[in-house]
Amino acid sequence: MKLITCGLPYANGKAHIGHLRTYIPADIYVKYLRMLGEDIIFVCGSDSHGTPIVVNAEQANLTPKQLVDIYHKHFQEIFEKLDINFDFYGRTDERYHHQTTQEIVKKLIEKGYVYPKEIELAYCPRCERFLPDRYVEGICPYCGEIARGDECDQGCGRHLEPGEILEAKCKICGSKAVYKKQKHYFFKLTEFKEFLEDYLGSLEGTENALNYARQWVKTELKDWCITRNLEWGVNFPDENLVVYVWVDAPIGYISFTKKACEKLGKDWRKIWLKNGEIIHFIGLDIVYHHCIFWPAMLKGAEYNLPKAVVASGMVKVEGKTFSKSRGYVVWVEEDYLKAGLNTDYLRYYLINYTSHQRDLNFSWEIFKDKVNNELIATLGNFMYRVLHFAWKNFKEVRMDVDKEVINKIQEIRNKIVDSLNDWEFKVASDAFMELASFGNLYFQNAKPWELIKQDKDECEKIISSCLQLVKALIIFGYPILPKTMEKMGKIIGIDVENAKVDDALKIDAKIILNKPKVPFEKVEDEKIKELEEYLELFMKLKSIVEKEGVLDEI
Ligand code: MSP
Ligand code: ZN
Repeated sequence: MKLITCGLPYANGKAHIGHLRTYIPADIYVKYLRMLGEDIIFVCGSDSHGTPIVVNAEQANLTPKQLVDIYHKHFQEIFEKLDINFDFYGRTDERYHHQTTQEIVKKLIEKGYVYPKEIELAYCPRCERFLPDRYVEGICPYCGEIARGDECDQGCGRHLEPGEILEAKCKICGSKAVYKKQKHYFFKLTEFKEFLEDYLGSLEGTENALNYARQWVKTELKDWCITRNLEWGVNFPDENLVVYVWVDAPIGYISFTKKACEKLGKDWRKIWLKNGEIIHFIGLDIVYHHCIFWPAMLKGAEYNLPKAVVASGMVKVEGKTFSKSRGYVVWVEEDYLKAGLNTDYLRYYLINYTSHQRDLNFSWEIFKDKVNNELIATLGNFMYRVLHFAWKNFKEVRMDVDKEVINKIQEIRNKIVDSLNDWEFKVASDAFMELASFGNLYFQNAKPWELIKQDKDECEKIISSCLQLVKALIIFGYPILPKTMEKMGKIIGIDVENAKVDDALKIDAKIILNKPKVPFEKVEDEKIKELEEYLELFMKLKSIVEKEGVLDEI
C-alpha cells in the first residue's frame, strides 16, 4: 500500500496557481499509479493552525474557526473543479487531529526528546502580547533580507527560531518589539543529526529537496522550539501553550490517513507503523520541514519514515517572483475559472511547462500558445480527424492494428512509466504528446481519404491503427486531461476512469463509434489580452493600496 500526500494549504486565503503545482502533479501521479494497478491512498487537508490563520482572522474580524470554515470549503471546491481527487480531505482543527498530535507529542516527551528552556521572545509593548511567528517582521540574521518571525520567505528560505529575527517589529501595529523571557519547550533535533545524515542518504525524491536537506543537516541543525503563545492550536500538555503549527501540520498526514482508512476499510497502521510507502509532494519552500523536522519527529515517536519527498520548483507569474502582496499572482477562482477556461488546460500547463524541479513561469501568452499549438494543433487535431473520419465512413471499425503502431504505444507506455519513477512528469507528458505527433504523421502518410476511394478494406485497417492510437491517447492522457479524456472515451466506448494503462495495448475485435465531439476549444487572443490587462491593472491597484499603508495580506 502506498500513501501519497500533498502539502496542506493554509486555510487563510484563496487558492492560487502556485498551490496547484503541489496538487496537480501529485494528482496526475496518483491517477497514473492507479491505472498501473497500484493500491494508493491519497490525502490532504486544510492547515488550520498557526499565525497565518490567526493574524488574518484578526484582520478580518472573524474567529480563526470562522476563517478556516470559509477557506476549507473554498479549497475543497477548487480541488473538485480541477479534478484533484483526494480520498480524504481533512482539517487540522478537528478533534481527531488534535488527539493524534497529542499522542505523538506525549510520546516524544516520554522518550526524553523534549525539554523546557527560558528564552527571550519578541513582545509588543503596545499590543501587550508576545509575537509568535508571523506576528513579527524583521531582518533575517543569515541573509539580511526582510523576513517573517519563523521563516525567511523572501530571502534564503531558512526556518527561523523564535528570538532569532533581527530588528523585530509587530506586524499588527508596527511598533518596535522588545524582548521578554518566557519558558518554552524544545525538541532535541540535534540528537537526530546522525540519524538524519543516514536517512537523507537513502531518502528518495527530487534532488533539489535532497541536496538542500543534506547541506542543512551538515551545517545548521539546532534544537527546535515546539511551543507557542497562542490560543488557537493543539494544546501542549499541562501548560498554557499550543504546539507550533509545524509540529501538528505534518501530523495531519497521519490523522487524515486514519480517516481515509476508516472510509476505505483499510488499516492505517500498515502505512505509518509498518512498512507502507509514504510519498510527500510539496513545494521547494517547505523542504526543511519535510526533510528535517518531520523525519526526526517520526523517528523519535517510532513511526514509519517517508520513502520519498517530491518537491516542485516555485511558480512565478510573467517572469516575476510570485507575490500576493505585489500582485504577481493568478487566483484559481477569480482569474482562471471565472474566465471560463477549461481546467485541463491548466493541468497541462503546470505539468508540461518545465521539469518538476525547476521554477515555473506562468504567462498568459505562453498559456495560449501551449493550448493552441500543442493541445489543439497536435493532440486535438489527430484525435478529431481520426474519429470524424472513422465515424463518417465506417461507424464501426474491425480492429486489425499495425505492429508498428503497437510497438510505438508500448514504447510510449514505457517512457511514461520510467519518467514517473524519476519524478519527471514533463517527460511523461511529452511522451504522451509524442504519440499524438506520431499519429498525425501516420495518418498523413497513409492518406486514408484517398484510400477510402480505392480500397475500403485497406483503409479500414489504417483507421483501426489510428483508432488504437486514439484509444492509447485517451488512456495515457486521462491522468493529465481527465475531463477531456472522459468525454473522448465515450466516443469509442471506453470507461477511462476505470481503465488500466495496459488496456492501451489490448486490441478489441471492433470499435463502435458515437458521433465525435471536438476535444478542445481554442483560446482566443482577445481573451488572453483581457487576462493580461487585468493582471497589470491589478498590480497597479496593489501598488496604490500599498503606498497608502494598507496592510498586505500575509
Ligand atoms: N501549510 C503549509 C504546509 C504544511 S504541510 C504539513 C503551507 N501552506 S501553503 O498554503 O503555503 O502551501 C501549500 C502548498 O503549496 C505547499 O506544498 C507549498 O509548497 C505550495 N506552494 C505555495 N505557493 C507556491 C508557489 N508560489 N510555487 C510553488 N508551490 C507553492 O506551506
Ligand atoms: Zn534569509
